[in-house]
Amino acid sequence: MISIKQINEKDIDLCYELDSNTISLWSKKQWANEFKKEGTKIFGIITRNLVIGICVFQVVLDEGQINYFVVSKRFRKKGFGSYLMSNLIKKCEKLNLNKLLLEVSQSNVIAERFYSRFDFSTVGIRKNYYKDGSHALLKEKKLTTK
Ligand SMILES: CC(C)(COP(=O)(O)OP(=O)(O)OC[C@H]1O[C@@H](n2cnc3c(N)ncnc32)[C@H](O)[C@@H]1OP(=O)(O)O)[C@@H](O)C(=O)NCCC(=O)NCCS
Repeated sequence: MISIKQINEKDIDLCYELDSNTISLWSKKQWANEFKKEGTKIFGIITRNLVIGICVFQVVLDEGQINYFVVSKRFRKKGFGSYLMSNLIKKCEKLNLNKLLLEVSQSNVIAERFYSRFDFSTVGIRKNYYKDGSHALLKEKKLTTK
């Protein structure tokens, strides 16, 4: 069975551990800050009692932002990322948000392909944005409000 649950700050270790085993984006302190950010919710995709993917989602006015999106390595390419994204898009539509935004490295071909599948299009570029010198693509998906 698969489910999606909101993760609370008491489960910060789960987030930090999954991050450390995947893209190592944030320190524990940075994770703690994410939990405190206004309009931010952290969702986990759960199967067999394991949190196998995490999404950090923030609402700013009428827009949703994905600030973090990862599936655990050994659970990739099995549709879990798509499940989490579809669920997030539905949440956004219920909230009457106009668009969903994110940033992804131009060198992250897999993520680019993943987001294209959900009709995200590139609306901007931040040159040499990441530590490795790669550019950040700003992606946007227009939402149909309900
Ligand atoms: C991007 C990511 C979240 C996708 O999660 P996932 O659970 O593996 O994705 P899904 O199984 O739902 O795949 C959906 C589609 O994404 C694309 N995709 C996913 N993995 C891919 C791969 N290894 N190669 C090519 N395309 C891939 C395909 O179009 C796939 O559809 P298909 O299975 O019909 O070919 C996952 O690869 C990940 O965590 N990557 C590292 C973190 C990251 O890059 N996050 C985004 C940073 S902004």
